[in-house]
Amino acid sequence: MKKLAFDDLSKCNDSADLERMRIKYLGRKGEITAVLRSLKDLPIKERKIFGDRANRLRKELEQAFKDKLEKIRNSDFKTQNYKLDVTAPGAKIVHGHLHPFTLVMRKIEDIFQSMGFKIIEGPDIENEYYNFDALNIPKDHPARDTWNTFWLKTKSEKMLLRTHTSPMQVRFMEKNQPPFRIVVPGRVFRYEATDASHFYNFYQLEGLMVDKNISIANFKAVIESFLKKIFGEEIKTRIRPSYFPFVEPGFEIDVKYASGEWLEIIGAGMVHPNVFKSAGYVPGEWQGFAFGMGIDRIAMLKYKINDIRLFYANNLYFLNQF
Ligand code: FA5
Repeated sequence: MKKLAFDDLSKCNDSADLERMRIKYLGRKGEITAVLRSLKDLPIKERKIFGDRANRLRKELEQAFKDKLEKIRNSDFKTQNYKLDVTAPGAKIVHGHLHPFTLVMRKIEDIFQSMGFKIIEGPDIENEYYNFDALNIPKDHPARDTWNTFWLKTKSEKMLLRTHTSPMQVRFMEKNQPPFRIVVPGRVFRYEATDASHFYNFYQLEGLMVDKNISIANFKAVIESFLKKIFGEEIKTRIRPSYFPFVEPGFEIDVKYASGEWLEIIGAGMVHPNVFKSAGYVPGEWQGFAFGMGIDRIAMLKYKINDIRLFYANNLYFLNQF
């Protein structure tokens, strides 16, 4: 059988021939396999001798088939059986693209830059002071519960994942003197259940404008102009009174969906004197407005997406639409 097998092997000229021969000898119903299967019918003494020889032959043949295949492939390449078409179009490279949040964020930043606002960034990991205390939210104040917090396990200072972009108000004012206008885009985190309009990780853009005579009228002008630029002239918005400890008075701004429902997108107000005090400003000397808008919700309105969770699901059928 060994002689027959090697004779057959030497006659193979291409990989198809070779495969046929491999199956003939080594396949599941092949001749060598049959020999190995029949061993069980032999007396024990002979079984060992035949078994050893048959196994050795199987290994030798397997190696010989491999070597021959390699040889055939090499010679195919040299003799142009293997054809290389240099004019064939190349494999297409799939281009990535920006996430809808990045697109919306860039648009929003452009609009505020065109109104003279500078873009500033701040840390995702904050301390308790800038996230709460400096913003006139004392430790025992019930308003703290509004910002369900991911606390970090730290040994000394209490640290957290910032619950809003507002900590950058005092961080920036400590180092800069008015007049100024800034926006702070960034990622924020809240320890809360998700639903169609809430996620535990989302994006905000903080705004802060401080000067001698800034009034609510300035705030309305800036924010209305922004909303028209981002959503179009026909957008319907409303300003409602609201409460945040770091502003007085405080507002919330809603935008109307095509369905008629209102979606809250911005918290805002006139900077509270205690916040100016935290920053080291002389009370009464400066006035300003601040706002914090939800980028996810703006993207929802802009692209008519009714569930915030779709943005985070990493489903390419969804993401490739943008
Ligand atoms: C704040 O976070 C205040 N820092 C905003 C502010 C800044 C007020 C400056 C006054 C002055 P609020 O918790 O309402 O406020 O969140 C602001 C916006 O973030 C909301 O209007 C909403 O658009 C968005 N937002 C809030 N929670 C979520 C959430 N879980 N998922 C997605 N977006 C959210």
